[in-house]
Amino acid sequence: MTACSPEKLRNLFPQIHHFDKLGESYLDSASTTLKLQCVLDFLQDYYSKDVSNVHRGDHHLSLEATRQYEEARNTVAQFLNAKSSEEIVFTRGTTEGINFLALTLGDLLKEGDEICLTEMEHHSNLIPWQRLAKQKNLKIRFIPVTPEGQLDLSQLKNCLNEKTKIFSVIHISNALGTINPIESLIKEAKSKGILTIVDAAQSVSVTEIDVQKLDCDFLVFSGHKIFSPSGIGVLYGKKEKLLPLPPYHTGGGMITRVSLDSSEWADCPQKFEAGTPFIEGAIALAKTLDFIKNSVNLNEIRAHEKTLLQEAEAELADIPGLRILGPSGEKANILSFVIDGLHSSDMSFIMTKEKVAVRAGHHCCMPLMEKLNLPSGTVRASFSVYNRKQDVKALKRSVLKAVNLLRTA
Ligand code: ALA
Repeated sequence: MTACSPEKLRNLFPQIHHFDKLGESYLDSASTTLKLQCVLDFLQDYYSKDVSNVHRGDHHLSLEATRQYEEARNTVAQFLNAKSSEEIVFTRGTTEGINFLALTLGDLLKEGDEICLTEMEHHSNLIPWQRLAKQKNLKIRFIPVTPEGQLDLSQLKNCLNEKTKIFSVIHISNALGTINPIESLIKEAKSKGILTIVDAAQSVSVTEIDVQKLDCDFLVFSGHKIFSPSGIGVLYGKKEKLLPLPPYHTGGGMITRVSLDSSEWADCPQKFEAGTPFIEGAIALAKTLDFIKNSVNLNEIRAHEKTLLQEAEAELADIPGLRILGPSGEKANILSFVIDGLHSSDMSFIMTKEKVAVRAGHHCCMPLMEKLNLPSGTVRASFSVYNRKQDVKALKRSVLKAVNLLRTA
C-alpha cells in the first residue's frame, strides 16, 4: 500500500471536516487527538453487529470478540516491538498504568528505599508515587529541570543512587515538548539495577517506540493520544518483571479457580485484567496502530508537524512580550508560551472566541510551572498531522487579538 501524504491523511479524520466548516483550528492534540475514520467505521460495525463479551462465552460472537481482542494485544505488541503479547496489559490509560505499577511494585519496597522522578512529570506520574512514599516511608528524588525546560543531567548520579529502586520518567513533556534522552536515562538506571518505567503518553504518536531497544522494564501510554478512543490504554512490562506482580484489580476473568476461602490467579496478562475490559477500545486501538504501521509514512508526518511548529515559532516570535517555553532546539509538536503580564486562561478564552482551540494553565504539571515561575501556567498549542499552515496563521491572529484586547482592557 502507498503511504498516505499528510493531506490525504487529513481527509481520514471526520472531525476535521466539521472544523473546516466552522472555520475552527484544533491545536489541542497534546490533550487528545482526533479520531481516524477506521475507528469510527469499526465502532459503528461493532455496535451494530458484533457486541459480545470476551473470554466467557462459547457462542460464535464471543469467540470472535475474544479472537479480535487477543489479536489486538498482538498488534500492540508488534507496534511496540515487545517480545510477546503476554507483555501487554490493557488498561484505561496512562494514569491507570502508573497507578497499577505504584500499587503493585510498591509491595516490593521497604522503608528507606528511594524512587526517582523528574520535576517535569505529569501529575499522573507523581501523585501515585507520593501516596506510596507516604504509606511506606520512601524518599522521592527529582531530577531538576533547567530554566530552558530540560533535565539537569548533572544531578543524575545523585538522583539514581544505591537506594533507588524505581525510576519513572516522562519521555516527552506534555507541557513543554521537551524530548528527554530516554535511552541514556534508562541505561544509567539499569546499570544500577533500578526498575525503569517510561510514560510514553505524549511520545507514542510522535516518535517510534521500540521497547526492546529502549530496554525499559515498563512503558505506559493512552489510546486517545494516538487517534483512538479514550478509556483504552496499554501497560507494557517485560514478562519476567510482570509475572511476579500481584493483581491490581480482582474479580471476574482473572482467575483459574475460586472457592469461598481463596482464589488462584490466571496467567499473565489475564491476571491483570479483572472485569469486562474495554473490548471495542482495544480493537479500535489495534486498528489504528495497524493503519499507522501500514499506511502512513511516519517520517513524512513528523516532518510535517515539525514544519508547523517551526512556522508557528517564527510567526509568534515578533509579538511583544511573548516568551516561548521549553528547549530552543529539537522538541516535539508542542508550542508553550506566555505573554508578559497576561493570564494564560484569559488568553485562551479569547483565542477560543477567535476559533482557535488551545489548552491553557498548568497542563497537569503544577510543580513544573512553579519551578519555571509561571503562576498562570502557559498557553499551549499542539500540532498533529491534520493541522495546516492556515492553523498557524489563525494561531497568530488569535494571539494578537487576545493581546490587543487584554492590553487595552
Ligand atoms: N495529558 C493531557 C494534556 O497534556 C491531558 O493535556
